[in-house]
Amino acid sequence: MIATLEPAQPRILGRREFFIVVGGAAAYTVLRPVDAWARRARAGAVALQPWALPAEAPADGLELARALVGAAVLAPSDWNTQPWRFEVDPGSIRLFADAQRALPTSDPDRRGLMVSLGAALENLVVAARAYGFQPTVRYRPNEGARGVVAEMTWLDGGPRRDRELFGALTERRTNRRNYDGRGLLPQVRAQLSAQVADGPRLHWLDGRDALRELADVVHDAVHAQVSNCRIQAEQHGWLRTSRQDAARRGDGVPVDALGMSGPANWFADHYYDPDSWFLRFGAGSLAKRAREGVRSAGAAVLLTTTARDESAWLLGGQAYERLALKATQLGLAHQPINAPLELDRFRGPLLRRFGVSGEEPLMLVRCGHDSRVPHTPRRAVSVVASFRNS
Ligand SMILES: Cc1cc2nc3c(=O)[nH]c(=O)nc-3n(C[C@H](O)[C@H](O)[C@H](O)COP(=O)(O)O)c2cc1C
Repeated sequence: MIATLEPAQPRILGRREFFIVVGGAAAYTVLRPVDAWARRARAGAVALQPWALPAEAPADGLELARALVGAAVLAPSDWNTQPWRFEVDPGSIRLFADAQRALPTSDPDRRGLMVSLGAALENLVVAARAYGFQPTVRYRPNEGARGVVAEMTWLDGGPRRDRELFGALTERRTNRRNYDGRGLLPQVRAQLSAQVADGPRLHWLDGRDALRELADVVHDAVHAQVSNCRIQAEQHGWLRTSRQDAARRGDGVPVDALGMSGPANWFADHYYDPDSWFLRFGAGSLAKRAREGVRSAGAAVLLTTTARDESAWLLGGQAYERLALKATQLGLAHQPINAPLELDRFRGPLLRRFGVSGEEPLMLVRCGHDSRVPHTPRRAVSVVASFRNS
C-alpha cells in the first residue's frame, strides 16, 4: 500500500493570537536589555580599585591622598573582607575598623581584623616614604576616640625610602598553589627577617621532616575548622563562586583562588556549603590541599607577639605586610595559613613545632617558589574613604 503524504497545512493564526505573539516578541526585544540592566543594578556592582599606583607623588593634595589610600586597600585581609575605612583631611589619614566586615565567629577577639588593618596601615607608610614624605603614625590617637585605630600624618621632604617595597604593593598576592619544594637561601631568609624589627618575632622552620610534621598539624586544623558548621557558615559567606562574582562584589575569595582541582572546584557551591551533606568532602579536600601546600613549601615562618592585645596585633599586621612585600620583591610565593591559630587546641602543637613557648602565634606563613597568580578585587578608594575639607 502506498501512503500519500499530505503537505502540512500552515496554521493560520487568529487575529488575537497574532497580536499576542507579535506583542510578546516586541516586548521581549524591547525589555530584555532593560531587564538585564535592572538585574545588574539590583546586584549593586561595586566600584573597583585598579591594581596600579602613580609612580611619583601626585602634586595635588587630594590626588596624593587618593594614591596613599589606593596603596592601603591593596593590602591582604582575612578572607579579603577588607575591614577598613579611611577618613582623609589635608595632611592626615585616619584608619577605622569596619565592624560590618568582621568575622565574629572565626575571629572573636579581632586578631585577624587587626592584622588586616595593620597591613593596610603599613601600605600607607610604605607609599608615603616611597613618595618622599616623612610619615608619622599615632596609634589610637586621643585614646582611640571615635574608634580611630591609627592616624598617619606626613611632612614634606626627606629621602625616598621603601621604593622596592612600594614596587611590590601591586605585585603581592596570596598564592595557595603547590610550590616547587626548593628551599630558601640563607641570605633570602635574612632579608625577610630584617623586615621585622621591634615587637613581633619571626621563627623559621625548614627541612622536609619538620615541614611534614607541620603539614600534619595544618591538615588537622583545616579539617576541624571547615567541619565546624558555625565557622564554615561565616567563611562560606566570603567565598565567591567565580572571579566575576568576586569582581561584582569587590571582595571575598574566588573559588579558583583556593587552588583546588576536580570536583572540589567544580562543585564548590556544595562542597563548602555548611548546610550541605557534601561539606565532609570539602573539608577533606581543603585539609589535604593545605597539607600538600606546606609539604611543597621551601620554608614556613611563624610570626609571634609577646602581648595579646589589639595594639600588638596591629603592629604584627604591619610586620606581616613588610614580610609579604619583601617576599614578593624577592620573587617568592607565600600564603598565610591561619587555621591552627584560630582553633585553641592547635595553638600549642603549632608553637611546639617551631620550638617556641611563652609567645602568642599571630601568623603562620609558608614561602616558596612558584609562578604568579592573579590578584583578587578590591573596593575602590571612593567606596572606603571619606574626604573632609580636601
Ligand atoms: C589575618 C589574615 C589571615 C589570613 N588567613 C589565611 C588563611 O588561613 N588561608 C589563606 O589561604 N589565606 C589567608 N589569608 C590571605 C587572604 O585570604 C588574602 O589576603 C585575601 O584573600 C586577599 O588576597 P591577596 O592576598 O591575594 O590580595 C589571610 C590574610 C590575613 C591578613
